[in-house]
Amino acid sequence: MFGKLSLEAIPFHEPIVMVTLAIVAVLGLGVVSAVTYFKKWGYLWKEWLTSVDHKKIGVMYIAVAMIMLLRGFADAVMMRSQLAVATGGSTGYLPPEHYDQIFTAHGVIMIIFMAMPFMIGLMNIVVPLQIGARDVAFPFLNSVSFWFFVVGVLLVNISLGVGEFAKTGWVAYPPLAGLQYSPGVGVDD
Ligand code: HEM
Repeated sequence: MFGKLSLEAIPFHEPIVMVTLAIVAVLGLGVVSAVTYFKKWGYLWKEWLTSVDHKKIGVMYIAVAMIMLLRGFADAVMMRSQLAVATGGSTGYLPPEHYDQIFTAHGVIMIIFMAMPFMIGLMNIVVPLQIGARDVAFPFLNSVSFWFFVVGVLLVNISLGVGEFAKTGWVAYPPLAGLQYSPGVGVDD
């Protein structure tokens, strides 16, 4: 079921990845604690997470897109700083295979998990209002679609700490994306 993935796929020896994971864990815990402290789980569940209202689904799409914008921006900062310091004989702080994963993750995340959901969020909010409809044609399917998207976001972001991201660029063209040139777990076929 896990293909080539094993416990060895967790990069314990890479400080950049481990520190990033620690920061994500602390932020995640902070959010969970804040929601618990302010007793907002019930409100969140009833009013937002299970809502089939097109406007709320639109807002949730845009919220996730904004979080992914920060993620893609963190990648961009790493790339630009690497390019700035890797001059005059210095190789910078990122090994080539890590840089390749970062620009691939940046491209995939910015286009598929930031730009597209942002547009879909706007469309969800605006189009039914614009045409005077009560909601989209299949409100429940709209919600299912959003949650599939969230699962996709989580799966892609797991590669931050498990295995590695593809090193193929966001378009993942063969032959670079094929088994011969991408034998690792980044592109696991
Ligand atoms: C401050 C904002 C941003 C900075 C500094 C930045 C920086 C970069 C850099 C340095 C690369 C090239 C990496 C390389 O090939 O060596 C890159 C690639 C790319 N960026 Fe950005 N970027 C930013 C925002 C965005 C946004 C908003 C989007 C899309 C909505 C985006 C989409 C892409 C894509 C699709 C690639 C190509 C990735 C690939 O070759 O696989 N970027 N970006």
